[in-house]
Order: sequence, then C-alpha cells, then structure tokens
Amino acid sequence: METTLVLVKPDGVQRHLVGRILARFEEKGLQVVGLRMMCIPEATLRVHYAAHKGKPFYEGLIAYMSSGPVVAVAIRGPRAIGVVRTLMGKTFGHEAAPGTIRGDLGLSGSFNLVHGSDSPEAAKAELALYFKPEDLCEWRPLDLDAILDPRDAGDHK
Ligand code: RTP
Ligand code: MG
Repeated sequence: METTLVLVKPDGVQRHLVGRILARFEEKGLQVVGLRMMCIPEATLRVHYAAHKGKPFYEGLIAYMSSGPVVAVAIRGPRAIGVVRTLMGKTFGHEAAPGTIRGDLGLSGSFNLVHGSDSPEAAKAELALYFKPEDLCEWRPLDLDAILDPRDAGDHK
C-alpha cells in the first residue's frame, strides 16, 4: 500500500470542485486517510516546491498556491502514487486527456486544480509537511474485499 498527498488547489476550492475532485479518488477505490482545509504558509510552499525554484513559473506558482485555502488529502491504496497522477492527467488542463480531473474540469496551464506527489520520496516528505502522524486515520474500508482481490498479491502492494 502507498499513501500519497493530494492538494485540491485554490482554484479547485474557489470553483466549488472539492467534492467532485475527492469523488474521483473515492470512486476509484482509493481510501481517504487524512483530510484538512488550510491556507498554506508561504514558507511551507517554498519547501514543497523547492524543486521548481528558479524556473520562470516559480514565483507565480507560490502566489497562486497562496491565493486561498486548499484541501489537503492523504490518500491510500495499492500503487496510489501513480494511480492518483493518472487520474489527475497532464499538468496543463488544455493538454490533459478527457476522463482525467484536469482534462475534464480545467483549461488553464498553471491553475490546474489538483496536486499529487510524484514519487514515494516526495509523498513521504509532502505528507509530513501537511499532516502529523496522529492526524492520519487507520481504518479498514468495509468494501475493501470487493475492490481488491485478496488472492492477488499485486492488489495489496
Ligand atoms: P503538481 O506538482 O502540482 O502535482 O503538478 P505537476 O507535477 O503536474 O507539475 P509540475 O511540473 O510539478 O509543476 C508544478 C505546478 O506549477 C505550475 N506550473 N506552471 N506556467 C507553467 O509553465 C507552469 N508549469 C508548471 C502548475 O500549477 C503545476 O501543477
Ligand atoms: Mg509536480
């Protein structure tokens, strides 16, 4: 099982899409194990997006992500990191495929509704930025045996 960080970005909150975006992950069979609305301090954003420091869009990205509240979500499931990225779609809404969150709900390049960690290392570091360990809930979904094949070890990776 992997746990990954999703952020419904400020445009997703302003456009009243929090429920629809979370539904995409829940409908897929992924499990919400942490949920929090917050205004991200600028210092936290500069840590989160340190890999983009110096790029032409970096300061705009910090301003955009500081522009209003986000919803931070810890999401768990087999291969959750990659599955979340696939559900999100390509970075720019105008390039993202129909059926993906960004492809269905967004048009902009930078205002792209949702963030998902892109590697196990990033997921670990990013989850720690937004959640204390005790803020994550350990619970077993009652329908888990219908969503995942208990005989398929791959389902439980
Ligand atoms: P994210 O990190 O938010 O999950 O998105 P991503 O992996 O698909 O995209 P990434 O390359 O990591 O870029 C981070 C965010 O910066 C904004 N961006 N703007 N105008 C531009 O050229 C540009 N490029 C990136 C987007 O908000 C993107 O999600
Ligand atoms: Mg990224």
